[in-house]
Amino acid sequence: MSRKKLIAANWKMYKTPDETKRFFADFLPLVSAHDRDEMVVCPPFVDLHVALECVRGERIGIGAQNLYWKSEGAFTGEVSSAMLVALGCTHVIIGHSERRQYFGETDDTVNLKLKAALEHGLTPIVCVGEVLEEREAGLTEDVLRRQCVRAFHALSARKAEALVIAYEPVWAIGTGKTATPKIASEAHILIRGEAAKAFGEQFASQLRILYGGSVKPENSSALMAEPEIDGALVGGASLDPKSFAAIVKY
Ligand code: 13P
Repeated sequence: MSRKKLIAANWKMYKTPDETKRFFADFLPLVSAHDRDEMVVCPPFVDLHVALECVRGERIGIGAQNLYWKSEGAFTGEVSSAMLVALGCTHVIIGHSERRQYFGETDDTVNLKLKAALEHGLTPIVCVGEVLEEREAGLTEDVLRRQCVRAFHALSARKAEALVIAYEPVWAIGTGKTATPKIASEAHILIRGEAAKAFGEQFASQLRILYGGSVKPENSSALMAEPEIDGALVGGASLDPKSFAAIVKY
């Protein structure tokens, strides 16, 4: 069955509210006639409100880049899925490799965050991917399997329905080195296989698996032409309205 592609922007720690407004003022006219795929922009927390105002009435979802799994409480500096939903967010990125590398996220916190996001009706974009040393040591499959198994722990197919996975090989992030469509496809097939084990074949056949890592206007068509690749999670190239629009229209 065909899966609707999702093209998502991860702005990471870039752009102020004013810069966010300017981005959408330039970006929206470029994609106004475009309704082939789903589009999502994930700005920093402080820009979410402005971003949501900018896309009101448009076919663009707004997502956060992280969340905490409790609904509320004495957790200084954290933001809950309930808060994101109250604001109007529809998506959230979970377990990005930068969060795993620099902020101590583990497969287990990814699982807790994933369950919280699903319970609150957010569409989670769970990131998995190997680092260069793991790929060179032949450990890619083991790493992806472990990340999937632990992320999916204690979840049912019914609860996980909205799940989206992003395969982001860490060696391809911000390096200009893109995984070839073939490398990405192989990883996606493995991830889909893990989803089938956890949630069944039917679920796996509908699961969207995005590719992320140096996606640019120049390589997006070739990546998106792969039947296994159901969209993109775009970092650097999503910060410029023209280049993100070009990727959206691959
Ligand atoms: P780049 O597109 O800048 O390589 O970043 C990819 C990424 O990490 C998206 O989440």
